[in-house]
Amino acid sequence: MSSTPGNEPLLEWPAKYNEVPKQVFEMDELWPKELETIFYGAEWHPIVHRAEIPNPGDYKAAELGEMPIFAVHGDDGAIRVFQNTCTHRGTSLVTESSGNKKEFECPYHRWLFSLEGDLVGCPNSRDFTPDFDKKNFSLFQLRTEEFCGLYFVTMSDKTPPLKEYLGESFYEPLSRVLGGDGRLKLAGYQKVMYDCNWKAYCDNDGYHAPLLHKAFALLNWQGGKGFQRISENGHLTFESELKIPDEITALKDGSILDFKGTTTSTGSIVQMQFPLTVYSKHMDMLNIRYAFPKGPKGIEVHYAYFTHEDDNDEMIRHRIRQSSNLLGPCGLISMEDASVFSRIDKGNKTPGNAIFQKGVQDEYALSFEVKQNDESGNLPRWEHYRKLMGFKRAAQ
Ligand code: FES
Ligand SMILES: [Fe+2]
Repeated sequence: MSSTPGNEPLLEWPAKYNEVPKQVFEMDELWPKELETIFYGAEWHPIVHRAEIPNPGDYKAAELGEMPIFAVHGDDGAIRVFQNTCTHRGTSLVTESSGNKKEFECPYHRWLFSLEGDLVGCPNSRDFTPDFDKKNFSLFQLRTEEFCGLYFVTMSDKTPPLKEYLGESFYEPLSRVLGGDGRLKLAGYQKVMYDCNWKAYCDNDGYHAPLLHKAFALLNWQGGKGFQRISENGHLTFESELKIPDEITALKDGSILDFKGTTTSTGSIVQMQFPLTVYSKHMDMLNIRYAFPKGPKGIEVHYAYFTHEDDNDEMIRHRIRQSSNLLGPCGLISMEDASVFSRIDKGNKTPGNAIFQKGVQDEYALSFEVKQNDESGNLPRWEHYRKLMGFKRAAQ
């Protein structure tokens, strides 16, 4: 259990499963334990899609918790993820968010690493310790698995194999977000900073969408049938039909809402992978939201948008236009989220619990039967978080 030096628990969890202590968003002291048990624990974290680094030498920098890492496409075609630190004295090797290099040279004493992470040069090594061997100074490579071109990392040996960890009810729709076969091309990024604790960002629910987001009413955009699927380790998938009216009078040009795809429905898929990655497909838009907490306060979200390798020029233009108009900082269906996240952060500096209602049938039990617009689908994730953090639930 997480505890203070006096061995008092940092936080007691309410007895009711539909209540979350507001302090959980506000206590900076939780962050070290979250790093240890979640970000460096037995979870898989997506870092890069092959489409983001398609050529040998392409690299992308990222963070896992507070640990700097980077993914690189090797000369042998393999994608590897390394800690972004020189194995000599620890200087970070990569400083830009992405680029292309033939090798990685540390500026401090000019040690040189290959794209495969091997130490291939170090000046003055004749004067090094007698047993010095370059082979013992390769970059530290993280355990990695791939699904549909997306590469995930984990710091733990205990994390189950990726497909087992995600479960079929999660990875099957994920394959559709990733174009069906993972043959994607990067269209671009939008990067957004949200002013809240990382858990407020990922606590977005099915209940709020038609109520908070004005565009749903403005466009007369009605949800059709849909469902949520939830797993015990906190992953969540929403699938729904989108009923787009024939005529959209609120927009001068309604073509951003066209559906041009042929192989999948006009439906919407939104997935939340524990702890904080969102994947979405709305009509023809394919999106991964990589999220990087900046400590206990503030979270930077990189919205990565994709096209499919088989798209013609018209389809590429359409996907880019649709993506940037629907999501991101000024997207029709997501711009209000940023304001709510920061208001949650302000409002939760008050005592008491945040209370979930929609879809909760029994306050003292967890249900995995959740309807499309229920907020109770978030509760298994909170329970998974509570257990990982070792917080004791109060007696009834
Ligand atoms: S710290 Fe990198 S070469 Fe010395
Ligand atoms: Fe939202």
